[in-house]
Amino acid sequence: MKQDRILIIGAGGQIGAVLTEALREVYQPDHVIAADLRALSPQDGPTEILDALDGAALEEIVKKWRITQIYHLAAILSANGEKNPLWAWDINMRSLFNVLEISRQRQLAKVYFPSSIAVFGREASHHNTPQYEVLIPETVYGISKVAGENWANYYYRRYGLDVRSLRYPGIVGYQSMPGGGTTDYAVDIYHYAVQNKPYECFLSAHTRLPMLYMPDAIRATLELMEAPSNHLSVRTSYNLASMSFTPEEVTASIRKSIPSFKITHKPDFRQAIADSWPASIDDSAARADWGWKPEFDLDTMTVDMLKHLEVQYRNEE
Ligand code: NAD
Ligand code: SER
Repeated sequence: MKQDRILIIGAGGQIGAVLTEALREVYQPDHVIAADLRALSPQDGPTEILDALDGAALEEIVKKWRITQIYHLAAILSANGEKNPLWAWDINMRSLFNVLEISRQRQLAKVYFPSSIAVFGREASHHNTPQYEVLIPETVYGISKVAGENWANYYYRRYGLDVRSLRYPGIVGYQSMPGGGTTDYAVDIYHYAVQNKPYECFLSAHTRLPMLYMPDAIRATLELMEAPSNHLSVRTSYNLASMSFTPEEVTASIRKSIPSFKITHKPDFRQAIADSWPASIDDSAARADWGWKPEFDLDTMTVDMLKHLEVQYRNEE
């Protein structure tokens, strides 16, 4: 078992909850510290309440647990960010600076900071969007991720801090609920389907977005963090791709198992955000540098999502 001591900030979120469990299988569980603004139930390891805006509190935790790696997941996502842009900017950037600074000062071994397809805007190629593309995002979330990527690269080049990053597409998983993004519909839709409820989608039927199933997202994260440093040519953030689909296509996939599933569409402010994002991503740099290869496609993800959610809802009855 690996000896590093890991701090996960934002461990109560959609990705953090699943990543914490995965890291506790690779590292000693009591060396994986799950931290969040809100209290987490201490399942298989230590937890801390932490506001990542509080640099002194972060430093205390890093010292207390002799942390060697930080996974900084806490952020305000695309849709929530648009409701209060300056608040979202403040949280996303100030928390990142606190993480980068403590990591530099205490010479931590590695830092992980996720970016997003939200870094792209309408000027970027819509299909097969390349790794190095014009970045003019249209949300405060996207602006904060572009800035964050550049700060990650700066800390790597200027201070040698080993910061690694992935531009996640929309993440779909059954284990946790999403936290206020534009791709959230792709999780919600499965919950409605297994409960035999009709779903009103906030995006139009033909909106195509890049998506990634949670097991692939977690594996990508662990593989990137394990890759030899000298294999990594991208120090801003790697494009990462798997599947791309529309609400109409995910509906058709669900109907292969639940033919009676009904959907309607009522696009809201999130439609404009989705329209500014790519439909598909070129992730050849990730494939070449550290061997990235997704395992799930839309139909295999749908079968797995429905199987797990049916058990979850049955157990709640
Ligand atoms: P989420 O909203 O589900 O979870 C974020 C967590 O951070 C929450 O538990 C929240 O309580 C915590 N948090 C917020 N402010 C905090 C603070 N000041 N201090 C400590 N904790 C704080 O987000 P997620 O979907 O799990 O995303 C995790 C990361 O991955 C984010 O950086 C996000 O931008 C990125 N990402 C996610 C997706 C996706 O589809 N989920 C896609 C692209 C990128
Ligand atoms: N899933 C995220 C969002 O919709 C993408 O970063 O905000």
